[in-house]
Amino acid sequence: MRDKCTIKKDTARNEANAFGEVASRAAEIARLCFYSFPLLFLVSTLVACSLSEEMKRIEASKQYEEREDASRSTDLTGEQIFIRSCNTCHPGGKQGMGPSLIDISKKYPDDEMLKALIRKGKGIMPAQPPKVINDIELARLIVYIKALKE
Ligand code: HEC
Repeated sequence: MRDKCTIKKDTARNEANAFGEVASRAAEIARLCFYSFPLLFLVSTLVACSLSEEMKRIEASKQYEEREDASRSTDLTGEQIFIRSCNTCHPGGKQGMGPSLIDISKKYPDDEMLKALIRKGKGIMPAQPPKVINDIELARLIVYIKALKE
């Protein structure tokens, strides 16, 4: 039989052990945080860097495409474009295989609508992508077809 004093001592030792355990757990967690902080920092920096690299790459390829488009530009006048791409079906702006384009701005008061129509094409009328007619040429073409007279 153990006396009361020994039992008290045992309980005290147990409590001390439990406390020690909690303390060492806490220290472990603290150490983990301490070491993972730089790691987290490193990882987020790396992610940010690769993201900005990716954005730079996208930007560069966009600039390259724009330069390509510009260099592909044939820099034709509205009339030259019309004769090359439209005249077969709209001869002299009059009705042919396609309808007459005289006074076209009455039907399409908005240039952007006309541009969209020419870019997309309609029925048998072929689409005209920027590779074929660049934006500057398209603007000139619009001016030209809006000025077509009988
Ligand atoms: C292969 C023949 C063809 C060619 C080439 C062509 N078109 Fe057309 N175009 C048509 C036909 C057909 C229509 C009528 C489409 C419809 O309404 O379904 C049309 C319609 C249009 C219209 C709308 C007319 C309206 O009254 O709504 C415009 C504007 C037009 N063409 C402009 C052009 C221009 C500018 C070009 C040159 C870049 C061009 N077309 C080249 C056949 C052609």
